[in-house]
Amino acid sequence: MTPQKLHVARMGHPVLAQKAEPVNLSDLDKAREIIADMHFTLESIGERIGLAAPQVHIPLRIVIFSIPKTAPNLRYDFDREEVPFTVMINPEITFLTDKQVLGWEGCISVPGMLGEVPRCESIRYTFYDQMGVQHERVAHGFHARVVQHECDHLDGILFPMRMTDMSRFGFEEEMIEFVKNKTIEV
Ligand code: NI
Repeated sequence: MTPQKLHVARMGHPVLAQKAEPVNLSDLDKAREIIADMHFTLESIGERIGLAAPQVHIPLRIVIFSIPKTAPNLRYDFDREEVPFTVMINPEITFLTDKQVLGWEGCISVPGMLGEVPRCESIRYTFYDQMGVQHERVAHGFHARVVQHECDHLDGILFPMRMTDMSRFGFEEEMIEFVKNKTIEV
């Protein structure tokens, strides 16, 4: 089937505020169709890291993401580990430390905005891929941040809800120079 570009829900839509349902691992055909549509949608938007199913009006526990080595744009212009394209079904996160680090985040569902968000520095996460195979990874820094951001979408949480200093929330166009100087601290 030809993948479809899906409509993205923005902050305020109830689908982003609800807890998503686990995927039934004994029948992944429908999930694979959804994943193909999500991948097509993410590629169509371009220069973005990840997408969770609730962001395209599908309240299921599915996330896709990849972290390229080179920065697609200023938002992610700092050193980070490369992570290949990853499909996560029913992901689970375990925090490996109490240490939280601040970093800038944006979101396709909060367009044009950036905010500085505290996240756990090191995590272990497990997930199933689209073939139903279970995986386990340990992640630090930006990689850990991306996984936490995307998995939050499955629990109805958007990045501004994680912020502790709302003076660090604003329009990307207004903050771009400020953010460029500050990402080095992450
Ligand atoms: Ni997001």
